Amino acid sequence: KMKLQYLGHSAFLFSDSQNRTILIDPFLTGNPLSPVKASQVKADYIILTHAHSDHIGDALTIADKRKTTIICVVELASIISKNGYNTHPLQIGGAFQFPFGKVKMVTAFHGSATSNGLYAGLAAGVVFKLDHKTIYHCGDTGIFGDMKLIGEIDKIDVLLIPIGGNYTMDIDDAVRAVSLIQPELAIPMHYNTFDLIRANPQEFVDKITANGFAGKVLKPGEELQFS
Ligand code: NI
Ligand code: MN
Repeated sequence: KMKLQYLGHSAFLFSDSQNRTILIDPFLTGNPLSPVKASQVKADYIILTHAHSDHIGDALTIADKRKTTIICVVELASIISKNGYNTHPLQIGGAFQFPFGKVKMVTAFHGSATSNGLYAGLAAGVVFKLDHKTIYHCGDTGIFGDMKLIGEIDKIDVLLIPIGGNYTMDIDDAVRAVSLIQPELAIPMHYNTFDLIRANPQEFVDKITANGFAGKVLKPGEELQFS
């Protein structure tokens, strides 16, 4: 059964029924709300939505150069693979069938450069399957109308959506995005890590509940198991 653990900010650790682990945007060191240290986390696959330091985070520390595959857009993959890491490049709209399930990169309206200023291609969201569940991690993005299309192409079971504003959607835009995507469950992310992204996640959940959708606020470290 698929399990997810919220690691704060936009970081999530997933595991499937065969104990494969998939880590997304592991910003742990330097995140005051991180529930774990980078040295405590292992991953078979790491998915990066873009190159900003609050998303790449500890990816290169956690990645095992022999065992871990880092999945990201091709420009970021070519930067990372120069250092001997195992990468799988995708591009927006492209998908690949990994042993655990299919991963598709989708649009995110955002930028992407590494902390030392290298252009890292387009920022992305990611839609992937794990144990028959479909997860959509939006990455960092503003709202856009094609979120409706993304929700039509794949019925989204779990939506991980930024609500903190300033760099991404705020609560009201995220509430509207949920109505476009129509997920089974929406989990807010990318809030309260820094002063610029203060938001009350319960307000987001209350507003989508009023629209007939389900949401859940996860505390950093909290796990959710799916049947
Ligand atoms: Ni960003
Ligand atoms: Mn960010």
